[in-house]
Amino acid sequence: MKRPFKAIVAVSQNGVIGKNGDLPWRLAEDLKWFKKITMGHVVLMGRKTWDSLPFPLPGRKNWVISRSLEKKEGMQVFGSIEEAEKNLRPEEQIFVIGGGEIYAQTIAKCREIYVTEVLQSVKDGDAFFPSIEEDFKVEEILDENEAFILRRWIRKL
Ligand SMILES: NC(=O)c1ccc[n+]([C@@H]2O[C@H](COP(=O)([O-])OP(=O)(O)OC[C@H]3O[C@@H](n4cnc5c(N)ncnc54)[C@H](OP(=O)(O)O)[C@@H]3O)[C@@H](O)[C@H]2O)c1
Repeated sequence: MKRPFKAIVAVSQNGVIGKNGDLPWRLAEDLKWFKKITMGHVVLMGRKTWDSLPFPLPGRKNWVISRSLEKKEGMQVFGSIEEAEKNLRPEEQIFVIGGGEIYAQTIAKCREIYVTEVLQSVKDGDAFFPSIEEDFKVEEILDENEAFILRRWIRKL
């Protein structure tokens, strides 16, 4: 199978990534990493994640998957993940940036995932990250502090 994508996610110790349409935490240091890792690339997201952003992520191509949304300035809409994939140029890299629905449908197409483990348990979360331990292994730890651990996972051979 072709695995053209990378993904990036922050996930709590009980698997939560979102609550009420937003992130359940504010981690400025993690957002710095997110910016550094995704800058200059295509960021692929679901419509609900797009709705949670105040504006398109600067310096990145904002690609949104939706069956309902109209194109707006600073972003492109695709009706399916396959359609987005078809529009990718060979020199471009897609980072899947969420949310739960889009991660679940793209993990099989990912070769590498940056996972921030947020060192807390979140009550009443409503968006989740699928389990990746069976197919991926930790390649390196990029940052570790009292609030989170950022690891780069790669697909097992
Ligand atoms: N912690 C993190 O790293 C992280 C990252 C990103 C997001 N989040 C959080 O995750 C939550 C949002 O996640 P979510 O799972 O609810 O929503 P989502 O994945 O962001 O978006 C879901 C929407 O994407 C569109 N969609 C999904 N699959 C599609 C397909 N196959 N073809 C066409 N369109 C498709 C649909 O849009 P239409 O209804 O318009 O058709 C659907 O309603 C928020 O709380 C957000 O803050 C967390």
